[in-house]
Amino acid sequence: MKVCIIGSGGREYAIATQLLADNPEISLDAIPGNDAMTFATIHPEIAATDIPAIVAFCVENGIEFCVVAPDDPLVLGLVDALEDAGIACFGPRKSGAMLEGSKRFAKEFMVKHGIPTAAYAEFTDVELARDYVRKAAFPLVIKADGLALGKGVVIVQDLTQAEAVLENFMVDLKFGTSSAAVIIEEFLSGPEISVLAFCDGKTIKPMISSMDHKKIYDGDEGPNTGGMGCVAPNPVFTKEVAAEFERNIMQPTLAGLIADGLDFRGCLYFGLMLTDKGLQVIEYNARFGDPETQVVLPLLSSNLLDIFLATSAGRLAEAEVEFSARHAACVVMACEGYPENPIKGNVISYDSEVAPFLVFAGVKRNHNGELESSSGRVLNVLGFGESLSQAIDSAYQHVSQVSFAHNHYRTDIGTKAREIEAHHDL
Ligand SMILES: Nc1ncnc2c1ncn2[C@@H]1O[C@H](COP(=O)(O)OP(=O)(O)OP(=O)(O)O)[C@@H](O)[C@H]1O
Ligand SMILES: [Mg+2]
Repeated sequence: MKVCIIGSGGREYAIATQLLADNPEISLDAIPGNDAMTFATIHPEIAATDIPAIVAFCVENGIEFCVVAPDDPLVLGLVDALEDAGIACFGPRKSGAMLEGSKRFAKEFMVKHGIPTAAYAEFTDVELARDYVRKAAFPLVIKADGLALGKGVVIVQDLTQAEAVLENFMVDLKFGTSSAAVIIEEFLSGPEISVLAFCDGKTIKPMISSMDHKKIYDGDEGPNTGGMGCVAPNPVFTKEVAAEFERNIMQPTLAGLIADGLDFRGCLYFGLMLTDKGLQVIEYNARFGDPETQVVLPLLSSNLLDIFLATSAGRLAEAEVEFSARHAACVVMACEGYPENPIKGNVISYDSEVAPFLVFAGVKRNHNGELESSSGRVLNVLGFGESLSQAIDSAYQHVSQVSFAHNHYRTDIGTKAREIEAHHDL
Protein backbone atom coordinates (compact mmCIF):
# COMPACT_ATOMS: atom_id res chain seq x y z
CA MET A 1 0.00 0.00 0.00
CA LYS A 2 1.24 3.51 -0.83
CA VAL A 3 0.84 5.80 2.17
CA CYS A 4 1.69 9.49 2.45
CA ILE A 5 2.05 11.41 5.71
CA ILE A 6 1.75 15.19 5.87
CA GLY A 7 3.99 17.05 8.34
CA SER A 8 7.62 17.22 9.40
CA GLY A 9 7.90 17.05 13.18
CA GLY A 10 8.38 14.51 15.93
CA ARG A 11 4.70 13.58 15.83
CA GLU A 12 4.91 12.65 12.15
CA TYR A 13 8.20 10.77 12.69
CA ALA A 14 6.56 8.78 15.49
CA ILE A 15 3.44 7.98 13.45
CA ALA A 16 5.57 6.94 10.47
CA THR A 17 7.87 4.62 12.42
CA GLN A 18 4.88 3.01 14.13
CA LEU A 19 3.11 2.41 10.79
CA LEU A 20 6.25 0.83 9.33
CA ALA A 21 7.07 -1.29 12.39
CA ASP A 22 3.69 -3.04 12.15
CA ASN A 23 3.39 -2.99 8.34
CA PRO A 24 6.86 -3.21 6.77
CA GLU A 25 5.32 -3.83 3.34
CA ILE A 26 3.92 -0.30 2.91
CA SER A 27 5.76 2.41 1.03
CA LEU A 28 5.83 5.79 2.69
CA ASP A 29 6.13 9.34 1.35
CA ALA A 30 6.35 12.33 3.70
CA ILE A 31 5.35 15.88 2.72
CA PRO A 32 7.51 17.74 3.55
CA GLY A 33 9.06 15.27 6.05
CA ASN A 34 12.46 15.86 7.63
CA ASP A 35 16.00 14.76 6.79
CA ALA A 36 16.09 12.08 9.49
CA MET A 37 13.14 10.21 7.92
CA THR A 38 15.36 7.80 5.98
CA PHE A 39 12.53 5.25 6.04
CA ALA A 40 10.35 7.47 3.80
CA THR A 41 10.72 9.45 0.59
CA ILE A 42 10.65 13.04 1.75
CA HIS A 43 9.41 16.02 -0.29
CA PRO A 44 10.91 19.16 1.22
CA GLU A 45 9.85 21.16 -1.85
CA ILE A 46 6.12 20.80 -1.03
CA ALA A 47 4.70 22.73 1.93
CA ALA A 48 2.24 20.97 4.25
CA THR A 49 -0.27 23.74 3.48
CA ASP A 50 0.06 23.64 -0.33
CA ILE A 51 -3.22 21.86 -0.96
CA PRO A 52 -3.15 21.82 -4.81
CA ALA A 53 0.45 20.55 -4.86
CA ILE A 54 -0.28 17.79 -2.31
CA VAL A 55 -3.40 16.63 -4.16
CA ALA A 56 -1.49 16.62 -7.48
CA PHE A 57 1.39 14.66 -5.92
CA CYS A 58 -0.93 12.05 -4.39
CA VAL A 59 -2.95 11.59 -7.59
CA GLU A 60 0.12 11.39 -9.87
CA ASN A 61 1.92 8.95 -7.58
CA GLY A 62 -0.96 6.60 -6.87
CA ILE A 63 -1.07 7.33 -3.13
CA GLU A 64 -3.83 5.17 -1.64
CA PHE A 65 -3.98 6.60 1.87
CA CYS A 66 -2.95 9.93 3.34
CA VAL A 67 -2.39 10.74 7.04
CA VAL A 68 -2.84 14.47 7.63
CA ALA A 69 -1.19 15.20 10.99
CA PRO A 70 -0.78 19.00 11.46
CA ASP A 71 -3.56 21.46 12.31
CA ASP A 72 -3.18 24.03 9.54
CA PRO A 73 -3.71 21.75 6.49
CA LEU A 74 -6.71 20.20 8.28
CA VAL A 75 -8.26 23.61 8.93
CA LEU A 76 -7.50 24.66 5.34
CA GLY A 77 -9.48 21.66 4.07
CA LEU A 78 -6.74 19.33 2.78
CA VAL A 79 -8.78 16.24 3.67
CA ASP A 80 -11.81 17.59 1.76
CA ALA A 81 -9.61 18.14 -1.31
CA LEU A 82 -7.92 14.72 -1.10
CA GLU A 83 -11.17 12.83 -0.51
CA ASP A 84 -12.82 14.70 -3.36
CA ALA A 85 -9.93 13.47 -5.52
CA GLY A 86 -10.66 9.90 -4.40
CA ILE A 87 -7.87 9.50 -1.83
CA ALA A 88 -8.83 8.12 1.58
CA CYS A 89 -7.44 10.00 4.57
CA PHE A 90 -6.92 9.86 8.30
CA GLY A 91 -7.94 13.30 9.56
CA PRO A 92 -11.18 15.29 9.76
CA ARG A 93 -12.62 17.41 6.98
CA LYS A 94 -12.58 21.16 7.45
CA SER A 95 -16.00 21.17 9.15
CA GLY A 96 -14.69 18.91 11.95
CA ALA A 97 -11.29 20.59 12.14
CA MET A 98 -13.11 23.81 13.13
CA LEU A 99 -13.26 22.38 16.66
CA GLU A 100 -9.58 23.34 16.74
CA GLY A 101 -9.52 26.06 14.09
CA SER A 102 -11.97 28.35 15.88
CA LYS A 103 -12.14 28.58 19.64
CA ARG A 104 -15.49 30.37 19.31
CA PHE A 105 -16.84 27.44 17.31
CA ALA A 106 -15.52 24.98 19.94
CA LYS A 107 -17.02 26.96 22.84
CA GLU A 108 -20.40 27.27 21.12
CA PHE A 109 -20.30 23.51 20.46
CA MET A 110 -19.54 22.77 24.14
CA VAL A 111 -22.24 25.08 25.47
CA LYS A 112 -24.82 23.71 23.03
CA HIS A 113 -24.07 20.11 23.99
CA GLY A 114 -23.67 20.62 27.75
CA ILE A 115 -19.96 19.83 27.89
CA PRO A 116 -18.23 21.33 30.96
CA THR A 117 -15.89 24.19 30.05
CA ALA A 118 -14.80 27.57 31.46
CA ALA A 119 -17.37 30.39 31.29
CA TYR A 120 -16.53 32.80 28.47
CA ALA A 121 -17.52 35.71 26.30
CA GLU A 122 -16.60 36.24 22.64
CA PHE A 123 -15.69 39.49 20.89
CA THR A 124 -15.07 40.77 17.39
CA ASP A 125 -15.26 44.44 18.48
CA VAL A 126 -12.26 45.63 20.50
CA GLU A 127 -14.30 48.38 22.23
CA LEU A 128 -16.75 45.82 23.60
CA ALA A 129 -13.85 43.60 24.68
CA ARG A 130 -12.25 46.55 26.52
CA ASP A 131 -15.55 47.34 28.28
CA TYR A 132 -15.80 43.71 29.35
CA VAL A 133 -12.32 43.50 30.90
CA ARG A 134 -12.79 46.86 32.69
CA LYS A 135 -15.68 45.31 34.63
CA ALA A 136 -14.19 41.83 35.09
CA ALA A 137 -12.30 40.18 37.95
CA PHE A 138 -8.74 38.90 37.35
CA PRO A 139 -6.99 36.66 36.43
CA LEU A 140 -8.63 36.16 33.03
CA VAL A 141 -7.63 34.15 29.98
CA ILE A 142 -7.62 35.82 26.56
CA LYS A 143 -7.50 33.52 23.53
CA ALA A 144 -7.16 34.28 19.84
CA ASP A 145 -10.05 32.64 18.01
CA GLY A 146 -7.99 30.98 15.27
CA LEU A 147 -4.75 29.00 14.99
CA ALA A 148 -1.74 30.82 16.45
CA LEU A 149 1.12 28.29 16.63
CA GLY A 150 0.26 27.53 20.27
CA LYS A 151 0.97 31.17 21.22
CA GLY A 152 -2.53 32.62 21.07
CA VAL A 153 -3.45 32.15 24.76
CA VAL A 154 -2.47 34.68 27.43
CA ILE A 155 -3.34 34.61 31.12
CA VAL A 156 -3.68 38.23 32.24
CA GLN A 157 -3.38 39.34 35.86
CA ASP A 158 -4.71 42.90 35.65
CA LEU A 159 -6.46 45.47 33.47
CA THR A 160 -3.25 46.95 32.04
CA GLN A 161 -2.11 43.54 30.78
CA ALA A 162 -5.57 42.72 29.46
CA GLU A 163 -5.79 45.97 27.48
CA ALA A 164 -2.31 45.42 26.06
CA VAL A 165 -3.19 41.90 24.89
CA LEU A 166 -6.46 43.08 23.34
CA GLU A 167 -4.59 45.84 21.48
CA ASN A 168 -1.94 43.39 20.33
CA PHE A 169 -4.41 40.73 19.19
CA MET A 170 -7.37 42.71 17.84
CA VAL A 171 -5.86 46.01 16.67
CA ASP A 172 -2.27 45.08 15.71
CA LEU A 173 -3.53 41.66 14.55
CA LYS A 174 -0.53 39.80 15.99
CA PHE A 175 -1.85 36.54 14.53
CA GLY A 176 -3.53 38.08 11.48
CA THR A 177 -7.20 37.22 11.11
CA SER A 178 -6.71 34.46 13.75
CA SER A 179 -6.68 37.14 16.46
CA ALA A 180 -9.26 39.53 14.96
CA ALA A 181 -11.77 37.75 17.19
CA VAL A 182 -11.05 36.63 20.75
CA ILE A 183 -12.66 34.76 23.55
CA ILE A 184 -12.19 35.86 27.15
CA GLU A 185 -12.42 33.02 29.59
CA GLU A 186 -12.75 32.39 33.28
CA PHE A 187 -9.40 31.32 34.79
CA LEU A 188 -9.42 27.72 35.99
CA SER A 189 -6.79 25.85 37.94
CA GLY A 190 -5.87 22.24 38.46
CA PRO A 191 -3.72 19.55 36.88
CA GLU A 192 -4.00 19.11 33.10
CA ILE A 193 -4.61 15.90 31.22
CA SER A 194 -4.44 15.16 27.50
CA VAL A 195 -6.63 12.41 26.08
CA LEU A 196 -6.41 11.51 22.41
CA ALA A 197 -9.23 9.50 20.87
CA PHE A 198 -9.86 7.82 17.55
CA CYS A 199 -13.22 8.87 16.17
CA ASP A 200 -14.92 7.83 12.92
CA GLY A 201 -17.98 10.06 13.32
CA LYS A 202 -20.08 7.32 14.94
CA THR A 203 -17.74 5.57 17.36
CA ILE A 204 -15.08 7.01 19.63
CA LYS A 205 -12.26 5.02 21.25
CA PRO A 206 -9.92 6.81 23.65
CA MET A 207 -6.20 6.18 23.83
CA ILE A 208 -4.29 6.21 27.09
CA SER A 209 -3.96 9.56 28.84
CA SER A 210 -0.82 11.67 28.98
CA MET A 211 0.63 14.72 30.72
CA ASP A 212 2.30 17.44 28.65
CA HIS A 213 4.77 20.05 29.98
CA LYS A 214 4.13 23.24 28.02
CA LYS A 215 6.47 25.72 29.71
CA ILE A 216 10.05 26.13 28.58
CA TYR A 217 11.79 25.90 31.99
CA ASP A 218 11.85 23.53 34.95
CA GLY A 219 9.14 24.13 37.55
CA ASP A 220 6.73 25.33 34.80
CA GLU A 221 8.52 28.67 34.47
CA GLY A 222 8.86 30.85 31.39
CA PRO A 223 6.80 31.10 28.22
CA ASN A 224 4.61 28.40 26.67
CA THR A 225 6.12 26.19 23.99
CA GLY A 226 4.80 23.53 21.63
CA GLY A 227 5.51 21.07 24.48
CA MET A 228 8.78 20.15 26.26
CA GLY A 229 8.03 16.61 27.35
CA CYS A 230 5.35 14.13 28.27
CA VAL A 231 4.54 11.07 30.30
CA ALA A 232 1.87 8.43 29.75
CA PRO A 233 -0.34 7.35 31.30
CA ASN A 234 -1.21 10.45 33.35
CA PRO A 235 -1.58 9.54 37.06
CA VAL A 236 -4.25 12.25 37.51
CA PHE A 237 -6.46 10.26 35.18
CA THR A 238 -7.59 7.65 37.70
CA LYS A 239 -10.41 5.18 36.99
CA GLU A 240 -12.89 7.59 38.60
CA VAL A 241 -11.69 10.55 36.53
CA ALA A 242 -11.76 8.37 33.40
CA ALA A 243 -15.36 7.43 34.14
CA GLU A 244 -16.27 11.12 34.60
CA PHE A 245 -14.51 11.89 31.31
CA GLU A 246 -16.48 9.23 29.41
CA ARG A 247 -19.81 10.22 30.91
CA ASN A 248 -19.60 14.04 30.97
CA ILE A 249 -17.23 14.82 28.13
CA MET A 250 -16.44 12.06 25.65
CA GLN A 251 -19.93 10.69 25.02
CA PRO A 252 -21.60 14.15 24.93
CA THR A 253 -18.90 15.25 22.47
CA LEU A 254 -19.63 12.29 20.21
CA ALA A 255 -23.37 12.93 20.50
CA GLY A 256 -22.72 16.57 19.58
CA LEU A 257 -20.60 15.64 16.56
CA ILE A 258 -23.38 13.37 15.33
CA ALA A 259 -26.18 15.87 16.06
CA ASP A 260 -24.31 18.63 14.23
CA GLY A 261 -23.46 16.37 11.27
CA LEU A 262 -19.71 16.94 11.61
CA ASP A 263 -18.67 13.38 10.57
CA PHE A 264 -15.35 13.71 12.41
CA ARG A 265 -12.92 11.02 11.22
CA GLY A 266 -9.50 11.26 12.76
CA CYS A 267 -7.88 11.93 16.10
CA LEU A 268 -9.83 14.10 18.50
CA TYR A 269 -7.64 15.58 21.23
CA PHE A 270 -9.26 16.55 24.54
CA GLY A 271 -7.25 19.08 26.57
CA LEU A 272 -8.67 18.68 30.09
CA MET A 273 -8.24 20.28 33.48
CA LEU A 274 -9.27 18.64 36.74
CA THR A 275 -10.69 21.60 38.69
CA ASP A 276 -12.48 21.67 42.03
CA LYS A 277 -15.72 21.86 39.98
CA GLY A 278 -14.78 18.62 38.21
CA LEU A 279 -13.26 17.86 34.85
CA GLN A 280 -13.45 20.71 32.31
CA VAL A 281 -12.51 20.90 28.63
CA ILE A 282 -9.77 23.49 28.07
CA GLU A 283 -9.61 22.83 24.33
CA TYR A 284 -10.18 20.41 21.51
CA ASN A 285 -7.55 19.76 18.88
CA ALA A 286 -8.44 17.96 15.67
CA ARG A 287 -5.21 15.96 15.46
CA PHE A 288 -2.59 14.06 17.41
CA GLY A 289 -0.66 16.13 19.95
CA ASP A 290 3.07 16.69 19.76
CA PRO A 291 4.75 15.32 21.95
CA GLU A 292 1.78 13.32 23.35
CA THR A 293 1.86 11.06 20.27
CA GLN A 294 5.47 10.11 20.99
CA VAL A 295 4.50 8.56 24.36
CA VAL A 296 1.01 7.27 23.52
CA LEU A 297 1.58 5.40 20.24
CA PRO A 298 4.49 3.20 21.43
CA LEU A 299 2.13 1.85 24.11
CA LEU A 300 -0.49 0.91 21.49
CA SER A 301 -0.41 -2.85 21.02
CA SER A 302 -2.90 -2.88 18.10
CA ASN A 303 -1.96 -2.19 14.49
CA LEU A 304 -2.06 1.59 13.87
CA LEU A 305 -2.62 1.30 10.11
CA ASP A 306 -5.63 -0.97 10.66
CA ILE A 307 -7.07 1.63 13.04
CA PHE A 308 -6.40 4.47 10.58
CA LEU A 309 -8.07 2.59 7.72
CA ALA A 310 -11.03 1.62 9.90
CA THR A 311 -11.43 5.21 11.14
CA SER A 312 -11.37 6.57 7.62
CA ALA A 313 -13.91 4.02 6.40
CA GLY A 314 -16.31 4.48 9.35
CA ARG A 315 -15.57 0.97 10.70
CA LEU A 316 -13.89 1.96 13.97
CA ALA A 317 -16.43 -0.05 15.99
CA GLU A 318 -14.84 -3.23 14.59
CA ALA A 319 -11.21 -2.16 15.11
CA GLU A 320 -9.10 -3.33 18.02
CA VAL A 321 -7.60 -0.45 20.05
CA GLU A 322 -5.55 -1.96 22.90
CA PHE A 323 -2.73 -0.56 25.00
CA SER A 324 0.00 -2.21 27.00
CA ALA A 325 0.22 -1.60 30.75
CA ARG A 326 3.68 -0.05 30.43
CA HIS A 327 4.75 3.55 30.99
CA ALA A 328 6.43 5.97 28.61
CA ALA A 329 8.29 9.26 29.01
CA CYS A 330 9.53 11.73 26.43
CA VAL A 331 12.05 14.55 26.93
CA VAL A 332 12.15 17.18 24.18
CA MET A 333 15.63 18.42 23.34
CA ALA A 334 15.29 21.92 21.91
CA CYS A 335 17.66 24.63 20.79
CA GLU A 336 18.85 27.07 23.44
CA GLY A 337 16.80 30.26 22.98
CA TYR A 338 13.61 28.39 21.93
CA PRO A 339 10.81 29.51 21.63
CA GLU A 340 11.87 33.10 20.82
CA ASN A 341 15.36 32.87 19.24
CA PRO A 342 16.55 29.28 18.84
CA ILE A 343 20.30 28.84 18.20
CA LYS A 344 20.38 26.40 15.29
CA GLY A 345 22.91 24.68 13.04
CA ASN A 346 24.77 22.42 15.49
CA VAL A 347 25.76 18.83 14.73
CA ILE A 348 23.91 16.17 16.72
CA SER A 349 25.80 13.12 17.96
CA TYR A 350 24.53 10.09 19.88
CA ASP A 351 25.48 6.55 20.84
CA SER A 352 24.16 4.09 18.27
CA GLU A 353 22.40 1.97 20.92
CA VAL A 354 20.14 4.91 21.80
CA ALA A 355 18.89 5.39 18.21
CA PRO A 356 15.64 3.40 18.70
CA PHE A 357 14.66 5.85 21.45
CA LEU A 358 15.13 8.98 19.36
CA VAL A 359 12.36 10.72 17.45
CA PHE A 360 13.69 13.44 15.16
CA ALA A 361 11.89 16.72 14.49
CA GLY A 362 13.77 19.96 13.73
CA VAL A 363 16.80 18.52 11.95
CA LYS A 364 18.62 19.00 8.63
CA ARG A 365 21.45 17.04 7.07
CA ASN A 366 24.57 19.14 6.34
CA HIS A 367 26.95 18.69 3.39
CA ASN A 368 28.89 16.04 5.38
CA GLY A 369 25.71 14.01 5.84
CA GLU A 370 25.51 14.81 9.56
CA LEU A 371 22.24 15.80 11.23
CA GLU A 372 22.13 19.34 12.60
CA SER A 373 19.63 21.19 14.75
CA SER A 374 17.45 23.24 12.39
CA SER A 375 14.44 24.51 14.33
CA GLY A 376 13.18 25.00 17.89
CA ARG A 377 12.30 21.48 18.96
CA VAL A 378 15.09 19.27 17.62
CA LEU A 379 14.46 15.74 18.82
CA ASN A 380 12.49 13.75 21.38
CA VAL A 381 14.15 11.21 23.61
CA LEU A 382 12.00 8.34 24.84
CA GLY A 383 12.13 5.97 27.79
CA PHE A 384 9.89 3.05 28.74
CA GLY A 385 9.37 0.98 31.85
CA GLU A 386 7.07 -1.01 34.06
CA SER A 387 6.60 2.08 36.23
CA LEU A 388 6.47 5.83 35.67
CA SER A 389 9.79 6.23 37.51
CA GLN A 390 11.51 3.63 35.35
CA ALA A 391 10.27 5.31 32.19
CA ILE A 392 11.46 8.75 33.32
CA ASP A 393 14.86 7.48 34.47
CA SER A 394 15.32 5.60 31.22
CA ALA A 395 14.44 8.68 29.14
CA TYR A 396 17.02 10.81 31.01
CA GLN A 397 19.61 8.03 30.71
CA HIS A 398 19.05 8.21 26.94
CA VAL A 399 19.27 12.02 26.98
CA SER A 400 22.75 11.71 28.50
CA GLN A 401 23.79 9.77 25.39
CA VAL A 402 22.80 12.58 22.99
CA SER A 403 24.65 15.84 22.49
CA PHE A 404 24.66 18.97 20.39
CA ALA A 405 25.89 22.46 21.15
CA HIS A 406 23.35 24.97 22.48
CA ASN A 407 20.74 22.40 23.45
CA HIS A 408 18.10 22.95 26.08
CA TYR A 409 15.82 20.47 27.79
CA ARG A 410 13.83 20.32 31.00
CA THR A 411 15.29 18.19 33.75
CA ASP A 412 11.95 17.73 35.57
CA ILE A 413 9.72 15.97 33.02
CA GLY A 414 7.45 13.66 35.01
CA THR A 415 8.41 15.04 38.43
CA LYS A 416 4.92 16.35 39.10
CA ALA A 417 3.43 13.07 37.86
CA ARG A 418 5.71 11.14 40.21
CA GLU A 419 4.56 13.29 43.15
CA ILE A 420 0.89 12.75 42.27
CA GLU A 421 1.45 9.02 41.98
CA ALA A 422 3.25 8.92 45.34
CA HIS A 423 0.31 10.79 46.88
CA HIS A 424 -2.15 8.15 45.52
CA ASP A 425 -0.06 5.42 47.14
CA LEU A 426 -0.32 6.98 50.63
N1 LIG B 1 -9.45 28.87 31.24
C1 LIG B 1 -8.17 28.61 31.54
N2 LIG B 1 -7.73 28.70 32.81
C2 LIG B 1 -6.43 28.46 33.13
N3 LIG B 1 -5.50 28.13 32.22
C3 LIG B 1 -5.86 28.01 30.93
C4 LIG B 1 -7.22 28.23 30.52
N4 LIG B 1 -7.30 28.05 29.19
C5 LIG B 1 -6.05 27.70 28.79
N5 LIG B 1 -5.19 27.68 29.82
C6 LIG B 1 -3.75 27.33 29.76
O1 LIG B 1 -3.23 27.69 28.50
C7 LIG B 1 -2.78 26.51 27.79
C8 LIG B 1 -3.10 26.69 26.32
O2 LIG B 1 -4.50 26.86 26.14
P1 LIG B 1 -5.26 26.20 24.90
O3 LIG B 1 -5.04 24.74 25.01
O4 LIG B 1 -6.63 26.71 24.83
O5 LIG B 1 -4.41 26.86 23.71
P2 LIG B 1 -3.82 26.32 22.36
O6 LIG B 1 -2.97 27.42 21.86
O7 LIG B 1 -4.90 25.84 21.47
O8 LIG B 1 -2.91 25.09 22.81
P3 LIG B 1 -2.27 23.92 21.92
O9 LIG B 1 -1.05 24.52 21.29
O10 LIG B 1 -1.95 22.87 22.96
O11 LIG B 1 -3.30 23.48 20.93
C9 LIG B 1 -3.51 25.35 28.46
O12 LIG B 1 -2.80 24.14 28.32
C10 LIG B 1 -3.59 25.83 29.90
O13 LIG B 1 -2.36 25.58 30.58
MG1 LIG C 1 -5.17 24.00 20.49
